[in-house]
Amino acid sequence: MAEAGVQLDIDFARSHFPALGGGWALFENAGGTLAADTVIARTHSYMTENFVQPGGGYDASAEAARRINESQRLMAEMMGAEPGEVMVGISTGMNVFLLSHAIRGWFEPGDEIIVTNLDHEANSGAWRRLDEFGLTIREWRINPETAELELAELKKLLGARTRLVCFSHLSNIAGGINDVAEITRMVHAAGALVCVDGVAYAPHRALDVKAWDVDFYLCSLYKLYGPHLSLLYGKREHLERAANNNHYFLADDIPLKLNPSGPNHELTAALSGITDYFDILHRHHFRDSNLALHDRIKQVYGLMAEHEERIAAPFVEFLRAKKGVRLIGRQTADKVLRAPTFSFTVAGRRAEEIPAALLPFKLAIGSGDFYAARCIRDLGLESQGGVIRASMVHYNTEAEVARLIEGLDSVI
Ligand SMILES: Cc1ncc(COP(=O)(O)O)c(C=O)c1O
Repeated sequence: MAEAGVQLDIDFARSHFPALGGGWALFENAGGTLAADTVIARTHSYMTENFVQPGGGYDASAEAARRINESQRLMAEMMGAEPGEVMVGISTGMNVFLLSHAIRGWFEPGDEIIVTNLDHEANSGAWRRLDEFGLTIREWRINPETAELELAELKKLLGARTRLVCFSHLSNIAGGINDVAEITRMVHAAGALVCVDGVAYAPHRALDVKAWDVDFYLCSLYKLYGPHLSLLYGKREHLERAANNNHYFLADDIPLKLNPSGPNHELTAALSGITDYFDILHRHHFRDSNLALHDRIKQVYGLMAEHEERIAAPFVEFLRAKKGVRLIGRQTADKVLRAPTFSFTVAGRRAEEIPAALLPFKLAIGSGDFYAARCIRDLGLESQGGVIRASMVHYNTEAEVARLIEGLDSVI
């Protein structure tokens, strides 16, 4: 049980990110978060003590395999999956590409895949390319006024030939949380599967792939306080049925068969540093340590969500009130409706001018299309250089947000 009224101890959380400091307020976290010290320590200790071929009988080698396997097990638990259902790969873009390759044989010419015009290209381009094999690609398009994917629009697209629907849990531009469980129910009722990009969602809210009943789900760990790696979850029955991307003699090795390069050893071994970090936060804030890891992680995400909402609220107010500013997506900091990934435009200014103008204030924000180029095009924002994006995570502070508001107020 959560202790009543408990709030994230922000100083404690920040003490686990050695790269914080130097006076910079970092608001490009949707591009990549800092790594927790626990992840850095585990990378260092693996490379110091276990940088040998894993899986042999000698001490360093047996320990290397144990660390790698343990990390993979913990990542599956963090996602709410079974061990063996989560593959570690080098990036989400690569994992989607590998998945599309491994399951394209399930589809026949004329079958349909639905992708969106909201998403980062990672969960879109690889699927669109399957038109080379005769598949029909249909687009679930956003409402250009709200930047929302509407369920009524999806309903119109679902049909007898729909095989797969690919969408994001949270747009890295608009920041709104999509109802994955509801969308998945609709898609399953139409006899199709879902592949969900959870990259922008995972730094902010707990993952629960079984509860959502998704078929495939992806997240990138360098945006989740870890190293440059990605997780691909697939239901066991799907991974069994998928074609082998790996050497022929590894065809039965699930999930390794999807990944022809195999996992990066030192960084995979370091992934347990992510769950270490959540656990350290849990011990610091909650008394009940008998909960399962997934439940402890969920409680910690609860603290993060409340903190994010608290620090984001004045920022939303500022953007909404500031003349000439258009906030894209939901006009709220409500943690149920969005994460604090805020994209906006300023009338008469190119997007890249604003981050540049904030550099003297030691404020780091971003601009551009963030590889969601179709979204930026269809919102009509290409000619002004895309959007300006300020993205927060739980280690940002109220004081940093106040500085951001002050900085923006003086340059807009
Ligand atoms: C929403 C979203 N999906 C996918 C990706 C791609 O992730 P990766 O760099 O691991 O391929 C990104 C990266 O910015 C992203 O923001």
